[in-house]
Amino acid sequence: MTTPAAPPIPAVSTANLTRVYGAMTALDTLNLTVNRGDLFGFIGSNGAGKTTTLRILATFLTPTTGTAFVFGHDVVAAPNEVRRILGYMPDFFGVYKDMEVTEYLDFFGACYKLPAAKREQTVKDVLELVGLSEKRGSLIGALSRGMQQRLGLARVLIHDPQILLLDEPASGLDPRARIEMMAVLQELQRMGKTIIISSHILSELETLCNRVAIIERGKLIYAGSVQGMEQKHGGRIYLVKLAADSEKAAELLRTRKEIAEATALDGHVKVTLAGADVDASLIAETLVPAGFRLLELREEEVGLEEVFLRVTKGETQ
Ligand SMILES: Nc1ncnc2c1ncn2[C@@H]1O[C@H](COP(=O)(O)OP(=O)(O)O)[C@@H](O)[C@H]1O
Ligand SMILES: [Mg+2]
Repeated sequence: MTTPAAPPIPAVSTANLTRVYGAMTALDTLNLTVNRGDLFGFIGSNGAGKTTTLRILATFLTPTTGTAFVFGHDVVAAPNEVRRILGYMPDFFGVYKDMEVTEYLDFFGACYKLPAAKREQTVKDVLELVGLSEKRGSLIGALSRGMQQRLGLARVLIHDPQILLLDEPASGLDPRARIEMMAVLQELQRMGKTIIISSHILSELETLCNRVAIIERGKLIYAGSVQGMEQKHGGRIYLVKLAADSEKAAELLRTRKEIAEATALDGHVKVTLAGADVDASLIAETLVPAGFRLLELREEEVGLEEVFLRVTKGETQ
C-alpha cells in the first residue's frame, strides 16, 4: 500500500484572518487559498479590505486575529522568510523622479544585498521582462505613468520572488498601458510566478485571472473561477415580447418559483430566471396556456459588471 502524497503547500492560505482598526473591522475572518501558479484576482470596491489583506501578507501589517501563511511561512512568526520570496507593489509607491531607471533598480538590488557583479545582469533581465530596456538611461520623471508602473513591477522582481502581490497596478492607466501591463503579468505567470492582483473593477481581470476572490466590507463573498461566478450568480435574463397585457403577464410569471423577477416595460416583460438549471421554455409554457400571445422570446446578455453588482449587493441567494 502506498501512502498518499501530502497535498502541496498552497502559495497563500489564511484562516479567519481579521484586522480591526479601532471600532472598525476592516477584514473579517477571511479564509482564502491561493494555489501555486495562480494569477489570482482580488476584487472589491474601495474600502473593501484589499490593501489591508495584501499588507498583512507582505508582513507590513499584523493581523488582529487569525493566521496567514505564504508558501508555508507564517507572516507573523517568520516575516523574513516571507519577504525573501515575496514581492509587494503597493498602490502608491514613491517614485524617485530624478533618478535614472537603471540607478533606481540597482539601488533596490543593493537593498536586497545582491552582489554588484550580479546586479548589472539582474537589472538588465528585469528591464527586458517589463519591456523597458530602451528606457534604462531615462529619468524616472520622464516616463509615462504606464512605464512607471512597469518599473514598479521591475523593482519587485529584483530578488526573483516566487509570489507577487500587486495592489491595483492598473489603476489610472490608459487602455493601452493596461494591456501592456497585463501582458507582462501573463509572461510572469508562464515563468511560474504566483501573482495576486487587486482591482475594484472585475471586468479588468476577467480574462487575465484563472481565479478570483471578491470581498466586500471585509468579508469574502466569492472565491473561484470567473465563469463559476457567472453561472452561480448570473441568473439568466430573457426579454418576452407580447401582443398585449405585459403587466398581467409579468404578474403571472412572478407566481413561478423558478422565476426570480419579472417586470413589464413598454410591451416587453423582462424575466430573470432563478438559477442556471432553469429551462427558459418554462416562460412560454406559463404564458401560452393562459391566453397570452407571445411574439418573441430572446435571451439578454448579463454583463460581468451586472453579476459583480449582484454579488456585492448580496442580491443573490
Ligand atoms: N490605518 C487605518 N486606520 C483606520 N482605518 C483604516 C486604516 N487603513 C484602512 N482603514 C479602513 O479599513 C477599510 C479597508 O481599507 P482598505 O484595506 O484600504 O480597502 P481597499 O484597499 O479595498 O480599498 C476601510 O474602511 C478603511 O477606511
Ligand atoms: Mg486599496
